[in-house]
Amino acid sequence: WPSGARRVEGMLTVGGVGVKDLVAEYGSPLYVLDEDDFRARARAFRDAFGGADVYYAGKAFLCKAVARWVAEEGLGLDVCSGGELAVALAAGFPPARIGMHGNNKSVPELARALDAGVGRIIVDSFTEIDRLAALAAERDVRAQVQVRVTTGVEAHTHEFVATAHDDQKFGFALSTGAAAEAVRRVLECPQLELVGLHSHIGSQIFDTAGFEVAARRLTVFLAEVHARHGVALPELDLGGGLGIAYLPEDTPLDVTVIAANLREIVARECAANGLEVPRLSVEPGRAIVGPAGISLYEVGTVKDVEGLRSYVSVDGGMSDNIRTALYGADYSCVVASRASTAPPMLSRLVGKHCESGDIVVRDLYLPSDIGPGDLVAVAGTGAYCRSMANNYNHLPKPAVVAVSGGRARTIVRRETEDDLLRLDVG
Ligand code: LLP
Repeated sequence: WPSGARRVEGMLTVGGVGVKDLVAEYGSPLYVLDEDDFRARARAFRDAFGGADVYYAGKAFLCKAVARWVAEEGLGLDVCSGGELAVALAAGFPPARIGMHGNNKSVPELARALDAGVGRIIVDSFTEIDRLAALAAERDVRAQVQVRVTTGVEAHTHEFVATAHDDQKFGFALSTGAAAEAVRRVLECPQLELVGLHSHIGSQIFDTAGFEVAARRLTVFLAEVHARHGVALPELDLGGGLGIAYLPEDTPLDVTVIAANLREIVARECAANGLEVPRLSVEPGRAIVGPAGISLYEVGTVKDVEGLRSYVSVDGGMSDNIRTALYGADYSCVVASRASTAPPMLSRLVGKHCESGDIVVRDLYLPSDIGPGDLVAVAGTGAYCRSMANNYNHLPKPAVVAVSGGRARTIVRRETEDDLLRLDVG
């Protein structure tokens, strides 16, 4: 739950605003983002790693307001598409503090990044190295790049979000020599300035070992690059991936502890190889925005399956949170509009979409007097919910409201059916 969440006379409040007022004013379903909580988490990373070396991963959730919060807290920004770059630029985010990712950046996307003066581009394929070099030559600029290296680490997370093993689409493998070849080619390109190496092992990770092994392998590789080419690359980026607590039993890693561990590992390897210690940077998305957000829904119907469970249906579902259906993600939720002393019953929180996989929370206990009109709040939905929202069954996407100091304001307005119909030009 966001740090600004409280129960006041039975009702959940966030940032000093009651959920009933939020839904009365902004409708349901609704994403609510606790601005103070977001900023505090951004600052925790800034304090642990140094502001300029933390790139908030916009894929977790990005809009202009959030880009401004990130800029104000002194962090950088990781974008991975032309669309995310457009939001950052529209918010006035300083381009020099933006890093651009993607395994298939298009020519227009790379051109826009160069024209905007994006600070660094993380190259992901041999095709991209040539493409970027050509675009930089046309513009007579030198692009600062990092090479994305896959270190072979098996991250303990869902298969779809693990990214450091060899058999997947991202980056240059260390094990096959592709990473060494990529470094050689970039160094040969006068239009490209190699500033560092990059590794992202995966997402929603609780185990420090994966980060540590990646840090060690990347530093060893940095030393090899130095030995072979005589260049000391100034930057190492270890990506994002720190897990958050979706359930009470989840134990997230401490940012300060992990920062200190990683620094020590990199420093030790550098010392052993007579290398100067590079700047260490990271790209947290979920760990900053995930816990700061909740989703509010209104209960519409309750179906009791005798002897098994109750299906509590809400007015959203897999269109505003696809993570349960896609990854089997776990969430927790509560009745938010009132207190209840009714006995708990085994329940499943489901959406209103036309398939039975449309589940928000698979198994949980809810008070047996839950019914139409009750508001339910799901915790930890700040990351990868609005950013992965879709319009399945022509449901308009919910608004995002920021709360702070007892006040709420829309930062992304609710879609309307007119918005959807506007695109339908047949
Ligand atoms: N840097 C790179 C290069 C990434 O690919 C990602 C996430 C991040 C940073 C940020 O990772 P985070 O700190 O947020 O874990 N849709 C999935 C997560 C996909 C993550 C993709 N890359 C989910 O909902 O769990």
